[in-house]
Amino acid sequence: MNSPKDQTTNKPLRYDGQVALVTGAGRGLGRAHALMLAARGCKVIVNDLGSAYDGTGAARGQVADEVVAEIVAAGGTAVASYDSVENAQPIIDTALQAYGRLDIVVNNAGILTPETWSELTLESWQRTLNVNLTGVFTVMKAAWPEFVKQGYGRCIMTASPAMYGAGVAGYAASKAGILGLANSLQFEARKLRLNIKCNVLVPQAVTRMTEDFAAAVDQRRVSQGKPAGRETPASIMAQLSPDKVSAMVGWLAHADCQAEAAIFEAGGGYFAQLNWARSAPLFATTREGVEAAPLPEHIRDGQLTLGNFADGDMPVSGDGSMGSPSALDQVFKHLADNGHQS
Ligand SMILES: NC(=O)c1ccc[n+]([C@@H]2O[C@H](COP(=O)([O-])OP(=O)(O)OC[C@H]3O[C@@H](n4cnc5c(N)ncnc54)[C@H](O)[C@@H]3O)[C@@H](O)[C@H]2O)c1
Repeated sequence: MNSPKDQTTNKPLRYDGQVALVTGAGRGLGRAHALMLAARGCKVIVNDLGSAYDGTGAARGQVADEVVAEIVAAGGTAVASYDSVENAQPIIDTALQAYGRLDIVVNNAGILTPETWSELTLESWQRTLNVNLTGVFTVMKAAWPEFVKQGYGRCIMTASPAMYGAGVAGYAASKAGILGLANSLQFEARKLRLNIKCNVLVPQAVTRMTEDFAAAVDQRRVSQGKPAGRETPASIMAQLSPDKVSAMVGWLAHADCQAEAAIFEAGGGYFAQLNWARSAPLFATTREGVEAAPLPEHIRDGQLTLGNFADGDMPVSGDGSMGSPSALDQVFKHLADNGHQS
């Protein structure tokens, strides 16, 4: 439900004169983001090496060419890049050689492997982390000097609801890692007092990735003599087209957006913001005296406090501390309030 205080204005959001890199833009969500940005005046680097949904198989770089052709046919400006995000400098070089600047980076490339925890191998775990997390690291390492030089940049990183817990441990871990990376880059940008904003997208859409993943899981179930999974009704699938996510990317990529290290869900026309939540503080320093280390029993007996989010606060992304005032200051204050000398 929209809040009555949500604002409306007739000014369209445009990106004229700006340059965006969208990784993994040959299909699915990345393609939708690239088309949307190009349609609003942005020059786009369509990066995609054209892998299978799980990162295996021969690269098919032509998916990037197909999206470039679509953009150009619609009157936009785009160039293709076929390098893996695991080796990002050539991707950034393509942007700089073609257009001389880089304003927006949409880290979208990702892979998903279908193994359950008992099936997951170290090779598959590493392959997933290499693309989904190290790939964002290498892209942002190469893009960062341009952002710093311009004093400006918009960076979007793509996480997943899988990080809340799903049967794909490597994928979930890679996507949760993105949160720490985004928070840390925002911290760096703040320290440098630059207009660089780094935010996280948690999307949901029907794409090649979700369809091939579902097919692989079904195939495994059937090979184990189990029934295939329930099919999602076509009416729901139709609602979950990738272009219904791109509006959030459009906003996070825009100069007007001041969000910092925030996390946004988007899918099927639904949007929400997530936040960290900290409970009310539990102090376990008085029972055995100031010097004694708290006991596990203190934690057991403090379950109500630790579950009390109404009296807690929300950590500010990019703060990096346990509260303001700091956790230690809070402990000293608590001790002083209870008659102890620190
Ligand atoms: N579809 C969803 O519901 C969903 C949900 C949560 C998160 N995501 C994330 O959104 C992003 C896009 O997913 P999608 O559903 O569009 O998947 P997709 O498989 O349809 O498209 C991903 C694209 O990334 C490319 N790619 C893969 N590895 C690459 C690499 N190393 N370098 C460059 N390009 C590479 C692939 O070739 C592919 O074209 C991924 O990061 C995915 O994890 C998707």
